[in-house]
Amino acid sequence: MNMRAKTPGLESIETASHDELQALQLQRLKWSLRHAYDNVPHYRKKLDAAGVHPDQVKQLADLAKFPFTSKADLRETYPYGLFATPMRDVVRVHASSGTTGKPTVVGYTQKDISTWADLMARSMRAAGATADDIVLNSYGYGLFTGGLGAHYGGERLGAAVIPMSGGQTEKQAQIIQDFRPTVLMSTPSYALTIADELQRQGVQPNKTSLRIGMFGAEPWTNEMRREIEARLGIDAIDIYGLSEVMGPGVACECVEAKDGPHIWEDHFYPEIVDPATGEVLPDGAEGELVFTSLTKEALPIIRYRTRDLTRLMPGTARTMRRMGKITGRSDDMLIIRGVNLFPTQIEEILLRNSNLCAQYQIVVTREHNLDELDVFVELHPDRAPGIADERRDEIGRDVSHHIKALVGVSARIHVVDPEKVERTIVGKARRVIDKRTK
Ligand code: DLL
Repeated sequence: MNMRAKTPGLESIETASHDELQALQLQRLKWSLRHAYDNVPHYRKKLDAAGVHPDQVKQLADLAKFPFTSKADLRETYPYGLFATPMRDVVRVHASSGTTGKPTVVGYTQKDISTWADLMARSMRAAGATADDIVLNSYGYGLFTGGLGAHYGGERLGAAVIPMSGGQTEKQAQIIQDFRPTVLMSTPSYALTIADELQRQGVQPNKTSLRIGMFGAEPWTNEMRREIEARLGIDAIDIYGLSEVMGPGVACECVEAKDGPHIWEDHFYPEIVDPATGEVLPDGAEGELVFTSLTKEALPIIRYRTRDLTRLMPGTARTMRRMGKITGRSDDMLIIRGVNLFPTQIEEILLRNSNLCAQYQIVVTREHNLDELDVFVELHPDRAPGIADERRDEIGRDVSHHIKALVGVSARIHVVDPEKVERTIVGKARRVIDKRTK
């Protein structure tokens, strides 16, 4: 059956032939590589060092010869060193977690913002939303790309957007009853928290005005999809994205198939590579997702290592390829209540307190559908003997305050005696214990 012909309201590129799509990708890829090479000294240096030049690209597969970009490149050029346009052309800046104190900074021109709004509107259309919908946008507004990304997409679609942002769950539940939104945009775990709160307020969660949910920013499974759909009585759609590539709306599922997010390949060229060797793997093989932007002006990104592990699958309801569920990461980044967190960020904060030492363990659990973060840290052996319990509590509160202020998540800090944090048999620290069921 040809599903494509049956889907109304699609942009022509969504149902173009593979040849058409690839021709567009090649043309845009050449532009994007040239744009990065000509305007970003960091890229020019890297490409020169690797002995490659944008003019050598004759086919899409030639991209495999180009060097990767990672968070380290963004850190080295912090904050604006990878921007390819002067600041006068940049109209927006967002940021996400770096591996240490310095965040990863991304920028957008007016055209980039417009493309992003178009792609978010395309994603929402794929999810089944229309201009008639009322969207409760519960993604956080601010440096995080979720809130404003979804907001602009909703407006571009012509829907009515309620800019709720994250948190204030009681109020979210009240607004669902009073404003009668039809689309919920939030992390999947927060959707379940909202369902709990509705129930607490005496409302049957599956009897509200909501009919669609667009969930992303953290990994979730098809089992969780079934749970959310049953509890909230909605279609739950997977939406994927990352700041370095754009934000939400790099890929999105369509409601008619719910078979994995279609990557909006006319703007982002995906590859899957072996995380250890960097070798490009064929479609269908599991590996690390890598993206090259094809149209971005302010922050062109060449072969960005997302660290997300997944596979590429052929298009179904759209021509563009789909990605599987993210099965894990090739680095140690954690996502706590939608906030990205690297253990090294915690370590940096702990070590600023001279009473503490580098023996620590991060334990993540899920209680009532919400992620909880506990950090166990040892007192410095030289300081431990004279430290009273009240002082430990004080140190814990101080660390917790800094984690909240700098990383944006709440953590319970347990200041313990020296040698009390678990070591493995060979004496290695086990930094993270993630007890959430995947
Ligand atoms: O999380 C953008 C976003 C906002 C996507 C709202 C979807 C909805 P970052 O904060 O840069 O951007 O985090 C990106 O989050 O590399 C994945 O590890 C993870 N992630 C995002 N979407 C999904 C998803 C936003 N649907 C990182 N499934 C990515 C699994 C996801 N993981």
